Amino acid sequence: MRLAFFIRQIWFTLKFDIADVALFISGKGVRREIVSEIPIAPSMIVDMLTGTGSILIEYAQAFPNAFIYAVDSDPKALSFVSDRLTDRGISRFQTIVGDAKDVKLPEGKADLVNISFGLHELCFEDRRKVLLEAMRLLKTNGFLIVSDYRMPEGRGKGILARIFFRLFEPPWISEVLKGDIKDAIQEAGFMLEREYDLPLTSLFIARNP
Ligand SMILES: C[S@@+](CC[C@H](N)C(=O)[O-])C[C@H]1O[C@@H](n2cnc3c(N)ncnc32)[C@H](O)[C@@H]1O
Repeated sequence: MRLAFFIRQIWFTLKFDIADVALFISGKGVRREIVSEIPIAPSMIVDMLTGTGSILIEYAQAFPNAFIYAVDSDPKALSFVSDRLTDRGISRFQTIVGDAKDVKLPEGKADLVNISFGLHELCFEDRRKVLLEAMRLLKTNGFLIVSDYRMPEGRGKGILARIFFRLFEPPWISEVLKGDIKDAIQEAGFMLEREYDLPLTSLFIARNP
């Protein structure tokens, strides 16, 4: 049974969350570091573009009283997320199959919206639409936490990262690597509070003003 789960995890990681492979090689602990930077104890968290939900385990452990909504357009990914969280005894969550540009949740209720390693999957316009939707979901003063790829330091790592991005990520990853996510966050009307460089990762903490 455990072996079947493990094989399913590998399959879903390769299909939906190749970032987990990159972080395994070059950024172990990054997801935990991201969650450790959250400046509030949220009651309601919305994770958009959830994929296999790797970061949700960290959120659920750091904020056991929070209720988490996991949003993804792929029901198979969310079915895996449900099994993964339930397997760890996490029950305060609900999955929502749907478009992150139009989430079926009321406006102004979330304390925190997380988007990790998802925006680089979207084209320029869709990145902006998803961030506007994040703004709609958040309470005034609610937090937006965005993490996504950045180029690693060092020539060797840089070459490997370029090969990885070329093979596994969509062409508009280049816009993200040039800093478009920061622009898109600010264009959506968020107040950027902090920005961190973590291994292979840029982390942005912003607020709905
Ligand atoms: C790279 S994965 C997510 C990575 C994950 N959040 C992490 O932390 O590693 C991107 C996910 O976004 C989902 N997706 C893509 N476009 C979407 C959209 N418009 N609405 C909802 N989900 C979408 C895909 O099904 C996929 O599971």
